[in-house]
Amino acid sequence: MDILSILHLRKNKIRLKMKNLSELKENVHKLIPGGAHTYSKGDDLFPSNAPKFIVKGEGCHIYDNEGNKYIDWGVGLASVILGHCYPRVIDAVMAQLKKGVNFSRPSLVESELSELLVDLIPCAEMCKFAKNGSNVTTAAIKLARAYTQRDYVALCGDHPFFSFDDWFIGTTPCNAGVPKAVRELSLTFKYNDIESLKGLFKRYPGKIAAVILEPSTGTPPLDGFLEKVRDVANENGAVLIFDEMLTGFRLHLSGAQKYYNVIPDLATFGKGMGNGFSVAAVTGKREIMERGGITHDKERVFLLSTTHGAETHSIAAAIANINEIRDKNVIDHLWSIGKLLQDGIKELIGTTKLENYFHIGGYSCRPAFGYKESEAGTALEMNTLFLQELYKHGVFIQSIGITYSHSEKEVTETLNAMEKAFSVCKKAVESGSVKSFIQGQTIRPVFRKYN
Ligand SMILES: Cc1ncc(COP(=O)(O)O)c(C=O)c1O
Repeated sequence: MDILSILHLRKNKIRLKMKNLSELKENVHKLIPGGAHTYSKGDDLFPSNAPKFIVKGEGCHIYDNEGNKYIDWGVGLASVILGHCYPRVIDAVMAQLKKGVNFSRPSLVESELSELLVDLIPCAEMCKFAKNGSNVTTAAIKLARAYTQRDYVALCGDHPFFSFDDWFIGTTPCNAGVPKAVRELSLTFKYNDIESLKGLFKRYPGKIAAVILEPSTGTPPLDGFLEKVRDVANENGAVLIFDEMLTGFRLHLSGAQKYYNVIPDLATFGKGMGNGFSVAAVTGKREIMERGGITHDKERVFLLSTTHGAETHSIAAAIANINEIRDKNVIDHLWSIGKLLQDGIKELIGTTKLENYFHIGGYSCRPAFGYKESEAGTALEMNTLFLQELYKHGVFIQSIGITYSHSEKEVTETLNAMEKAFSVCKKAVESGSVKSFIQGQTIRPVFRKYN
């Protein structure tokens, strides 16, 4: 590189000489594309008064850079299930840190966590670890393609996210950089509509390697939908994959596959597995999983293979987390605290007569808000206003994640804040313009083609 190019590069560089955090806030988009390391945490998905930077989390509370304290229902995009800085997990991590975090041969904790998952998860006969959910769903797709020797995949088009990789992102409006040839291999079907899945197999006979879906989201399976999906996959020789990133360790200790008693061929876990630590797993039938191994005589699959995939302290976090969930009946707590919150929200929506604008559904262990379009404004405007008002009262919500650290006290405080937020939303509806009550930007859809 010549000297002029170097000088030009230097001139265009944004220098990291921030005096304080508020200056960092202005500069973060110049330093980090999207301003965060997942789009789900980006400014465009929050009202303007959302906390900008989180500096500390403790139990079910978080603290921002301006010293504000919030009840946290976001809980690291639902990755934290016991609570922030949960002692048993932190102790296990610290003990492991003192023994070293990465070696050039496997560590014993890897086998320990595999054994734990094989014992707990019905479909799991083998496990392979990674750092992110996206990596393990992609690994499951790759295994399915290799096992069936087919290229197409059928994914549930109603489910919001499976992976940042091309096979999924190619199906969204934000598909820049994904080759057309790759996009064409991903087909979508509708949840609770078995005919839409059957239709794909009719149109692409003998070509679909995998069917992937979350066993359930805010909408539960109806009319034996999961059993029917299992049958359709079997009849057509496709691998059934459950993405249990959000249902795993929440609906049931053994996953939604146990809760619904429908056993997939492969299942992926991540969030909820390590109480916020970076650990994810693809699990499933040995016959498929072992293709990633080095002891069979079939064509090899170069499955997950990463330097940091089995960092010992994250694995230790997962072992401590799962044992604590089991020892303390954490799942029951999630269901009962979630039910209190869900019932309280339902009642508030009723008393404020906002049923045409809000809906609270989902499972009690993971209640889900729905915002409805109306003459007064769009669903995203209502979403923005509601969150804006909650943040003013020290309650941080994006989607709702219950943890073992949330108690009735936080539910009561949250419902008090929601009562105030709903009353502002009611005024906004009566005024005919929700937008005029929003102080700043409106939340935008994550998968949009242009900014
Ligand atoms: C259902 C589901 N699958 C996969 C992922 C990807 O997980 P990660 O963000 O750890 O890559 C997510 C993340 O939001 C998810 O919700």
